[in-house]
Amino acid sequence: MEEYHVFPKYDVKLRLPKEVYFPSDDSFLMLDNIELPSNSKIVMEIGGGSGIISIYLAKKHPEVNFIVTDISYQATETILLNHRLNNLCNPFDIICTNKLQSFHKVSPDVIIWNPPYLPSDATSDTLPAFEKNMFIGGRKGSEEAYDLIAKISESNISTVFYTIFSSLGWNKILVSQLENESCKAEIVKETKLFFEELYLVRIIIGDKNVK
Ligand SMILES: C[S@@+](CC[C@H](N)C(=O)[O-])C[C@H]1O[C@@H](n2cnc3c(N)ncnc32)[C@H](O)[C@@H]1O
Repeated sequence: MEEYHVFPKYDVKLRLPKEVYFPSDDSFLMLDNIELPSNSKIVMEIGGGSGIISIYLAKKHPEVNFIVTDISYQATETILLNHRLNNLCNPFDIICTNKLQSFHKVSPDVIIWNPPYLPSDATSDTLPAFEKNMFIGGRKGSEEAYDLIAKISESNISTVFYTIFSSLGWNKILVSQLENESCKAEIVKETKLFFEELYLVRIIIGDKNVK
């Protein structure tokens, strides 16, 4: 059963079943701070959930094509529904897949993932799969984000990658370790919540220049 929600600050309407991630502080950190480099043509969002991030960016950038994925089929159905509900004119490809698994020769200018980032604990294995996919990023919490960074680099994609880390599963001094001769990383914005800090991290991979 879906519920209808309006997010006036972002001019986005969403229908949301309970099995799909309800936009939260991490989603808002991305919505408030992600900037697309000028002349971006293709934006890929991994784990789109409700679709709120891509829908908002698509409204702001009607000339940009979007590829929005999620590992959850129900999330991809929800993204399709919400794409229609918000009357977008951008080309919007919605794909149910695990990270970059279904892609061979894509070259998105920007890749975005608000990943599951909490460390697992003794109760994690009892969670339903959809909840684990929303919240649990691995034993430390940051493994899922690191795995995608490795996959982007292995695919030789030159892009700007935005992701989120939590102080519960990552230490911000680690940002410099994300850098190497072909990667530049920085914390774009951090926000303090009741029980954790969230970091929005931007990694420029390959020869992408942010203008
Ligand atoms: C924290 S939620 C973020 C949802 C939405 N982007 C937002 O910010 O409101 C993480 C999303 O990633 C999806 N996800 C988890 N593992 C994934 C994977 N390996 N590949 C693609 N999507 C994944 C989950 O199903 C979930 O929708």
